[in-house]
Amino acid sequence: MITVGGFNTAIDRLIRIDTLRCGEVNRAIDEQVYPGGKGLHVAQTIAALGERVQLVGLIDAAHRNLITQHLSRRGTLFHGVEIPASIRTCMALQDASGQITEVLGQGPQLNKAQREALLLTFRRCIDESDLMILSGSLPRGLAESTYAELTAQVRDAGKRCMVDASGQAMRHALQAQPFLIKPNRDEIVELLGRPIDGLEAATDAARELFSQGVAMPVVTMGAMGAIAVDESGVWHASIELAQIRNTVGSGDCLLAGMAVGTVRGMPLEQTLRLGVACGAANAAAEETGFVERRMVETLLPQVHVHRLADAVKRR
Ligand SMILES: Nc1ncnc2c1ncn2[C@@H]1O[C@H](COP(=O)(O)OP(=O)(O)OP(=O)(O)O)[C@@H](O)[C@H]1O
Ligand SMILES: [Mg+2]
Repeated sequence: MITVGGFNTAIDRLIRIDTLRCGEVNRAIDEQVYPGGKGLHVAQTIAALGERVQLVGLIDAAHRNLITQHLSRRGTLFHGVEIPASIRTCMALQDASGQITEVLGQGPQLNKAQREALLLTFRRCIDESDLMILSGSLPRGLAESTYAELTAQVRDAGKRCMVDASGQAMRHALQAQPFLIKPNRDEIVELLGRPIDGLEAATDAARELFSQGVAMPVVTMGAMGAIAVDESGVWHASIELAQIRNTVGSGDCLLAGMAVGTVRGMPLEQTLRLGVACGAANAAAEETGFVERRMVETLLPQVHVHRLADAVKRR
C-alpha cells in the first residue's frame, strides 16, 4: 500500500468563454468541474499503474460524494477529513484562442482540532504502508515545518517518504532528508538559490541534494526530461513527444511513476524510465494529472535513459 498525503484537496473549475473582458460581465460557453489537487493526481496515477493506494486530504460535505466516487472509480481509497469550510477551489478561464487565466484559491484555514485530525489520519496510515508521499501545498494553519516532522516520523517507523512541495515547506522538509524529493526547475532555484539553465546545472543540483542526504533526488526539467541520482550514479531520461496537449500535472505523474518503481524494487534506471514515461503520458493527454496505463506502456520503450556520472564527484 502507498499512502499519499495530499492535504489540500481541490475542486478545479474550467470555464470556457469567448473573450475575457476584465471589469465586465463575462458569460460562460461551457463549464466543467474536476476533482483536483496534486496529491489526488499522484494517487490516481499510482492506481492507474496497478498499485494499491490511498489518499489523505481535507473534504467538505458538499464535495465528499464527488471526490469519493471519482477516486473510487479510479481505484483509490479516500480518507477525507471533513471540515465545515469549503475546500480549495481553483478556476481556469479559457478563451476562444485557448489562452488560460487562472485564479487559485487559498484554501481553508484550519483550527487546532482540524489540524490534529488531519495529521493523525496521515500518521495512522504509516504502519500499513510501504511508502508515504507528501504532495502539494500545506493547508493554511499548518506550520511550515509540518512536512519535515511527518518525514521524520515516517523514517522513525522504518518507512520511506517522498516529498513534492515548494517554498518554505520544501526547504524545511529537505532538512529531514526525505527518501526522494522532486523539485522542478523553479523549485530548485528556490531551494538552492541559483539558476538552473540546463542539464549540467540540474545534474549538479541533484548531486548536491544527494550529498545533503536525499537518497533519490529527482530534478525535473519539463521537455528536457529529468535527472535522478542514487548510489548507482546520476541518470538522465527524456522523451520526444509528437504532440503535447497539457503539461500541467506532469510532475505529479512522474512522481507517481517513481513511487511505483520504488515499491516494486526496480533499479533507478528503470524507475526513472517509468517516471518519465508517466510525465510524458500526462503531457500527451488533455486531462490534468492522470495517465492511461496503455499510453505509459507505449511510451516506455521510447524513453532515452543514460547514466551521466557517478553519484559523488571524484576528485
Ligand atoms: N513537453 C514535454 N515533453 C516531454 N516530456 C515532458 C514534457 N513536459 C513534461 N515532461 C515530462 O514530465 C516530467 C515532469 O514535468 P515538469 O518538470 O514540467 O514537472 P512540474 O513542473 O513539477 O509539473 P506539475 O507541478 O505541473 O505536475 C519531465 O521531467 C518530463 O520527463
Ligand atoms: Mg510539480
